[in-house]
Amino acid sequence: MEPLVTDPLLAWRPEFPIVDTCTYLVSHSLGAMPRRAAGYLQQFADEWSSRGVRAWHEGWWEIGRTTGDLLAPILGVQTGTISMHQNVTVAQAVVASCHRYDGPRRRIVIADLEFPTNMYLFEGFRRYGAEIVYVESDDAMRTNLDRILDAIDERTALVPISLVFFKSAYIQRAEAIVEKAHRVGARVVLDVYQAAGTVPMHLEALGVDFAVGGSVKWLCGGPGAGYLYVRPDLAAELEPGIVGWAAHARPFEFATGAIEYADAPERFQSGTPNVPALYSCRAGYEIVAEIGVEAIRAKSLRLTRRLMELAREAGFRINTPEADTERGGAVIIDVPDGAAVAAELIRRGIIVDHRPGAGIRMAPHFYNTTEEIEHAMEVLESLISDS
Ligand SMILES: Cc1ncc(COP(=O)(O)O)c(C=O)c1O
Repeated sequence: MEPLVTDPLLAWRPEFPIVDTCTYLVSHSLGAMPRRAAGYLQQFADEWSSRGVRAWHEGWWEIGRTTGDLLAPILGVQTGTISMHQNVTVAQAVVASCHRYDGPRRRIVIADLEFPTNMYLFEGFRRYGAEIVYVESDDAMRTNLDRILDAIDERTALVPISLVFFKSAYIQRAEAIVEKAHRVGARVVLDVYQAAGTVPMHLEALGVDFAVGGSVKWLCGGPGAGYLYVRPDLAAELEPGIVGWAAHARPFEFATGAIEYADAPERFQSGTPNVPALYSCRAGYEIVAEIGVEAIRAKSLRLTRRLMELAREAGFRINTPEADTERGGAVIIDVPDGAAVAAELIRRGIIVDHRPGAGIRMAPHFYNTTEEIEHAMEVLESLISDS
């Protein structure tokens, strides 16, 4: 008899209650909550209730650093290099505030496919002299690498760019961008939100200057746990303008006047850490690290290949790259009346989302099965043929 081929990652399914209640294919937006996360939130409540103000010196005050350290192996960086923030927008603002925009190097180069918050934030820095250069893509899927590289020159201060694009799951050629930026003295801020937890990365080896991201997608964490990685040799020379007392070398001296910066990662902190949020992301980080992103990626590629095969057979337009090396964890399928079709899929218990100009986004994660993919595609096909 043939041995049964089993998927060891499915052993994690019971840890994610929502997957028993629906077909959960939306981890590019909000990953499933691990049971263990409830335990961590309870721990926060217990500490608050029983230890009160003493909890600050029993782990709460350092929680930014200790949470960042849990994330470090997933991002491929050393411990002590990650600070925690409300979200990507705030982390990006801290990076922006480390730079000046009143000299010849004042340009920010942004791809037109970028997640809008990264545009809105830097648009706000025009008032300090920043010039925003948008780089056009040829289609809604991939950026044009040559055009991006050409746009980066001696006038460029920063290149904020996603490793994986939210609208197409296209994996950016980050190495080439970092190489060009460094050749002309510019810095790269890699938004790894759509990659962390599903695409392996080694940010330290990549040499990227900064990375930003959040926890609610592939990392299966709660909201309010954004992160900022700063290259260790660069961190020491940066002086963030958006800063608060938690970034002081000796915050409990309450010194008045200008700040004396702490070393990284506290240097990039603002004020009091968001303790419950940093408890809520812990379980997801632990589980992703325990499984290993390489194993998650191998499964993800297998399931997204199957999803695309079914979409092709049904004659749907796919807005995600075909090649494994260019594709993150989601698959975007463009069908007529996509928003309404996505709403109907959700009504039928198939949880996906829709983005205008892109299509229906579907994302298998380590807790999903091939059968769930096949079921979702069968229902999608039936909705389209009925319409
Ligand atoms: C690539 C990317 N960056 C940033 C965000 C969100 O930014 P913020 O954490 O500021 O809400 C998202 C999606 O929510 C995203 O897909």
